[in-house]
Amino acid sequence: MDHKTIKDKLAFVKRDKLFVSLMGIAVLLLTGFIFYDYFTPDWKQYQAGFRALVAERIGPERAAVVPSGLQQVYVQALAKADRCITCHQGVEWKGLENVPEPFRTHPKEILEKHPIAKFACTSCHGGQGYATDMQAAHGLVEHWEEPMLGKELGDFYVMSDKKALMQMNCNTCHRYDKETKGTGYINRAKELVNAKGCRACHVINGRGGTVGPDLTWEGEKAPEQFNYERIKGFHSAFTWQASHFKNPKELVPETVMPNFNFSSMDAQALAMLVMSWKKTNLPLEYLPNHNIRDIPTAAEREKEERMSQGPGAFFVKNQCFVCHSVSTLGIDAAAQIGPDLALAVEDVQSRFGRTLDDFFMRPTGTMEVVLSTMISLTTEQRQEAIAKMRHAYELKKPPPQAQSQK
Ligand code: HEC
Ligand code: HEC
Ligand code: HEC
Ligand code: HEC
Ligand code: HEC
Repeated sequence: MDHKTIKDKLAFVKRDKLFVSLMGIAVLLLTGFIFYDYFTPDWKQYQAGFRALVAERIGPERAAVVPSGLQQVYVQALAKADRCITCHQGVEWKGLENVPEPFRTHPKEILEKHPIAKFACTSCHGGQGYATDMQAAHGLVEHWEEPMLGKELGDFYVMSDKKALMQMNCNTCHRYDKETKGTGYINRAKELVNAKGCRACHVINGRGGTVGPDLTWEGEKAPEQFNYERIKGFHSAFTWQASHFKNPKELVPETVMPNFNFSSMDAQALAMLVMSWKKTNLPLEYLPNHNIRDIPTAAEREKEERMSQGPGAFFVKNQCFVCHSVSTLGIDAAAQIGPDLALAVEDVQSRFGRTLDDFFMRPTGTMEVVLSTMISLTTEQRQEAIAKMRHAYELKKPPPQAQSQK
């Protein structure tokens, strides 16, 4: 009995041995497969797909010369080695305009001005140039701060033009252009910066006032430097900027930056513009028209001179023009937060039941705050302000008949 049991046991051991070896082989095969799969990255499949597509569309001879293996565009001047063309093999081919990505011919016009050999891919698109895995290359991975500015991100931020975000990258080079073909959002934002007079409160490219922070390198500000306490949903520099443009007080209750009632699209455009204001150390030949500074147009310069040197100079020097126009002295307010000071003589009387002199020496309401915190004026300066406002009012009225000839 015992003997038999031992025999049985031995048989079991034998069977177990067989089982174990079989398992071993299976595990080996599985590991091999995993390794094989690991070492056959997606890009190999895309390259095989591309070769098949070329064979079908263009002919087998061309398919035979499709390069294989990792491909990259190396641009020394930009310190870039972009491997996007490992998958996007068709960018410079003719005849693949209507095939699916990643094989399609690149839109041509843009590459005529910016040849791939000189600009690579990521200078416009963003993303991780050296990655060869799609998610990583397109940069939609955690902790990657410069994701590809493509459709997926545009979708995420609910942009009406999903591809528009890339224009931020265009404008790191084109920042001093008044307008650039192909960057509609940025052009619109540049127009708004002029029309709304942001420079009354902000230095931009070395010119402007100091009520708000200098915005010249606003794009350098890291996402962690913003306060997200009052932002619901996703936290990024872009969401902060866009929400701030929609309603500055909602994020910074004490701010004097006005709510310009921007549409969502305008707020996004402005967010893109200020985020494109980054430092670059590009060689001169990468800067359009070799332009390295912001040259005001004749009209802008004329307006700035008229305001700061004309009869309304007092109101510019003392920052009243940030909030008030003085229409008869050629002062155009950036934000129109307060009333036109050319009418103050009459308006103060009817609104406060006090003379202008009385009001301005002992102001109430907003001006009490402004003159005790933001702008400090001596008694003489207050008297000068009153005299200037009286003068502005005189210019508003038609000249009295009797006194006009003397
Ligand atoms: C591993 C292969 C692979 C690599 C590497 C790769 N891509 Fe792609 N790309 C694809 C595929 C596949 C698609 C189409 C599917 C999709 O859009 O998700 C695509 C789509 C795109 C699109 C159109 C969709 C959009 O979001 O706007 C752009 C632009 C693009 N790639 C740019 C790049 C750039 C720039 C790089 C280099 C930084 C790059 N790709 C690297 C595979 C790749
Ligand atoms: C000078 C800027 C610039 C460079 C450099 C550039 N692209 Fe583009 N790319 C564009 C523009 C602009 C579009 C068109 C976007 C649109 O339709 O609004 C585009 C479109 C694409 C698309 C089609 C996506 C779509 O929106 O349908 C892909 C893919 C793409 N580029 C990949 C690349 C790759 C890969 C490289 C490098 C070999 C590259 N690009 C270099 C500007 C550039
Ligand atoms: C790395 C810097 C750089 C980037 C990024 C860049 N450009 Fe340019 N772009 C240039 C330079 C330099 C020229 C002038 C080329 C020449 O001498 O003709 C130029 C020329 C142009 C022109 C022709 C008009 C002109 O001023 O000569 C247009 C339009 C243009 N770019 C649009 C774009 C758009 C749209 C994008 C983004 C998709 C873009 N650029 C991205 C540097 C750049
Ligand atoms: C009446 C003055 C005033 C005007 C006009 C004004 N701003 Fe501001 N802005 C401020 C002040 C003050 C702050 C700082 C407090 C805050 O964040 O709101 C600020 C903050 C900002 C910030 C955030 C800076 C940061 O990183 O904290 C941006 C960007 C900005 N302004 C852009 C603009 C643009 C663009 C315009 C024109 C459309 C404009 N501002 C008009 C006063 C102004
Ligand atoms: C930050 C914005 C701001 C600045 C800067 C500012 N003001 Fe005002 N001011 C206002 C507002 C808002 C009112 C409307 C007051 C109210 O209704 O309480 C006002 C009202 C006035 C009034 C009364 C006008 C009327 O028609 O009722 C005078 C006068 C005046 N400001 C003069 C000045 C002068 C002079 C300066 C420069 C030294 C100046 N303000 C700077 C915001 C400003």
